[in-house]
Amino acid sequence: MTTGFTKRKGMEKEINIYKPYLKVSVEYKGGKTLNEIQNIDKPIYKLSSNENLLGSSPLALAAIMGNIENLNSYPDRTPQRLQNKLSEFYQGELSPNQFICGPSGSEVLELIIRAFMGEGLECLISNPAFLVYQMFSEKQGGIVKDIPLKEPDFGLDVDGLLNAITDKTRILFLTSPNNPTGSYIPEKELDRIVDSVPDHVIVVIDEVYFQFADAHDFCRPLKYVKQGKNVVGINSFSKAYGLAGLRMGYAYTTEKIADYVRQLSKPFLVNLLGLEAAIAALDDDQFIQETVELVQKEKQKIYNAFDRLKLHYWKTQGNFILTKPKMDASDFEDKMFQEGIMVRPVANFGAPGCVRITIGTAEANDAMIAALETIMK
Ligand SMILES: Cc1ncc(COP(=O)(O)O)c(C=O)c1O
Repeated sequence: MTTGFTKRKGMEKEINIYKPYLKVSVEYKGGKTLNEIQNIDKPIYKLSSNENLLGSSPLALAAIMGNIENLNSYPDRTPQRLQNKLSEFYQGELSPNQFICGPSGSEVLELIIRAFMGEGLECLISNPAFLVYQMFSEKQGGIVKDIPLKEPDFGLDVDGLLNAITDKTRILFLTSPNNPTGSYIPEKELDRIVDSVPDHVIVVIDEVYFQFADAHDFCRPLKYVKQGKNVVGINSFSKAYGLAGLRMGYAYTTEKIADYVRQLSKPFLVNLLGLEAAIAALDDDQFIQETVELVQKEKQKIYNAFDRLKLHYWKTQGNFILTKPKMDASDFEDKMFQEGIMVRPVANFGAPGCVRITIGTAEANDAMIAALETIMK
C-alpha cells in the first residue's frame, strides 16, 4: 500500500513525488520591487515592470477608500458584478457569462491553462514571450513547443505555428502587443491563424497592453469572440489602469469556454477591494486617455534619444521598449541602477542580450535618457 511517506532522509521524511514536472518547470522571477531595494540615497525610477508611472485610476482609488472599512466582511462569493460591469463596458457586445474574472491576468491565464492543459498535452508559444504561458503549462505536465518569433522584427511564424499543431495541441498562445518585444500581430495574420486552427485548439490572445497600440492594422481578440470562435482574450488591470499591486484581471471568450473554465474558480477568489476598484476603474476613461497620451508622446521622445545615442531598439506598441545595448545586459542593468534607473534584462523571456525599458513619466524618461548618456559615454 502506498502511504505517501516512504523513508527518512536526515530529519525529514521523503515523500512520493506524483508530479515530477512541478520541479523541472522554468521559474518566473518578477522584477524587484522598490521595497526590496535598500541603501540607495537618491531617487529611483522603476522602469523595469511595465507599470503605470502616473499612478492608479483615481476612480479605483476612491472605490478602495470607500470600502476600506468593510474589510471585516467577505467579498461577493463570485465576481458576477464585475462580469455585469464588463458586459456594459463592452457595450453589450459580450454577455456577462462570457467573462472570467480573477486576481490578476496571470491568475486568469492559470485557470485557463489548468482547464485545458494536462500531462502529455501540448501548447505552442512564440519566444520571446511572457514566461507564465510556459511555466503554468509545464506545471500541468504539458509539453511546450516554441515556434520563435522571426528575426529581425519579431514577426509571428504563422506557418510554423500552424504546422506545429498536432492532435495533442490544446492551446496556441499569442500576445499582441507582445511583451517584451513590443511587436504586434497584424489583423490579416490573426485572421489566418484563427481561421486555420482545428476545433480542438483554443487560441489564447493576451492583450494586456492593448490600450497602447496604435498600428492601423492592430486587431483585438474581441472580433473573433463575437464570431463565436474558440478564442480567449486576456486582460489585466495592472497596466493602463495602474493597479498592478491590487492583482485584478479578466478574460473574455465564448460562453461555452467561460462556463467550463469558471468551474475551476473558487468562492471569494476576488477580494473585496479588488472587485470594487476594478468595477470603478472601468468608468475611468479620463485616466486611460491621459495614460495613453503620455506613452504615445514620450515614446517618440525616447526613440529620438535612442537614435541619437545609437542604442539599438525596436519600435513598440506597448508601454515599454526593447533595446539591445552594445554592452552585456546585466552590466547595463547595473550601470543604469547606479544612475537611479531600474531596467529589465529579458534573457529569461527568450531575448538574450536585450533589456526592456518601461515608458514612464516625462521626468522619469528624462532621467533615464540622462543615465544612458552617462553610461554610454
Ligand atoms: C503579456 C503579459 N500578460 C499578462 C501579464 C499579467 O499581468 P498581471 O498578472 O499583473 O495581471 C503581464 C504582466 O506583465 C504581461 O506582460
